[in-house]
Amino acid sequence: MKERAVIAFDHHTAEWVEDPYSVYRQMRDGCPVAYSEAHGGFWLLSRYEDVREALSDWQTISSNFPGRIAIPHTTPGPAPGIPIEFDPPQHTQYRSAVSTFFSPGEVKKLEPEITRLAGELIDAFIDQGECDIVRDYATPLLAYSLALFLNLSLADVAEIERWADAIFAGRLKDPEGAKRAQAALADYIGEQMSARKLNPGDDLFSTLVQMEVDGTRLTDTELLGYGRIILLAGREAVIDGLSNSLWYLAGQPEKRLRLNSEPELLRPAVEEFLRFMSPIQLLGRVATKEVELYGQTLHEGESVAMTYGSANRDERIFQEADRCLLDRKPNPHLAFGGGPHYCLGAHLARLVIRVGISCFLQRIPEFSLSTDRAAERKPNGDARGFKTLPVEF
Ligand code: HEM
Repeated sequence: MKERAVIAFDHHTAEWVEDPYSVYRQMRDGCPVAYSEAHGGFWLLSRYEDVREALSDWQTISSNFPGRIAIPHTTPGPAPGIPIEFDPPQHTQYRSAVSTFFSPGEVKKLEPEITRLAGELIDAFIDQGECDIVRDYATPLLAYSLALFLNLSLADVAEIERWADAIFAGRLKDPEGAKRAQAALADYIGEQMSARKLNPGDDLFSTLVQMEVDGTRLTDTELLGYGRIILLAGREAVIDGLSNSLWYLAGQPEKRLRLNSEPELLRPAVEEFLRFMSPIQLLGRVATKEVELYGQTLHEGESVAMTYGSANRDERIFQEADRCLLDRKPNPHLAFGGGPHYCLGAHLARLVIRVGISCFLQRIPEFSLSTDRAAERKPNGDARGFKTLPVEF
């Protein structure tokens, strides 16, 4: 048996966040299955084909381990995340009940309202000649779009945002605050589900309270696990996806001009931004048995990271992988994952990001990064995005 290919890899360090891409390249070329001793130890798959295959091989590389999707692991709460912390066939039963809500046709109905919301947000800062893309635009646009999608009161949005922020931003630096926010969010989800049990409508949460698995309605614990994932799974990724795109465009006047004059380019451009600056860089799975890969032995129970950010820069699949080509075709990126857990919210995410970019560019065709205040990246490397992104125009 070969010795373990141990590498110094910690995605939550400032150096890594600054430049993950050269580390990824070295891994893909020299050590496609590597082991990091950080955060309790985990394997890393860095090549596109290996990540793609592992995503569909849930019998061997499983999601069925609550708390193990994030690296470092989170303490499993009372309710496992549904459907993300289950493997087929249970995963399929949970997921199929709500998939029509996320279809392109359903999501498209929200476009006029999301466009209106984007316009209102821009109205609030356009005369100031500056804004913080994360605080003033991407975060509220996602929060209102999600509330609209889920038929939640827009008056609740600010509070949901505060909890979500404490849960994500606080995960590494204030675990107690994150726990309190989890409890408050759980109460809120419980209230929403109870109201729909009494008076069901035709929204997604109403479907959850009425759905049955093997002839039985979901328990309150299951409803919490499902509601929490729907509210939180894609939140940060959409904010990051939109902020990353506008950060890139801030330094690309010709590409801004092109997107404004060729609006049909927006859809492929969104895919390329997600490939090039993937909001979710890596997520975990657990090996269910011993696996041999490139001469390395992964043992049962060990964590395995699906390194989406690296797969999406793999030059074995993407020509000129380190260039952002707005009209890249084909673009089979893995920013939304793959296999059974392929992102449920992908169409909604694409819509919010596309509308967000388009409205901003039309109203503010000339903008650049602020000369007074520097943009600050998030310290955690599993989500690639910005804490603050000040721009001027
Ligand atoms: C740009 C934005 C987004 C990105 C990059 C993204 C990415 C991903 C990825 C990589 C996965 C696979 C997880 C895994 O491998 O374990 C996933 C799953 C999921 N996403 Fe998203 N996501 C985004 C937006 C959204 C939105 C807006 C929602 C919902 C409102 C959402 C809901 C989900 C759910 C429920 C799952 C679990 C699906 C399952 O287990 O079958 N996502 N997403």
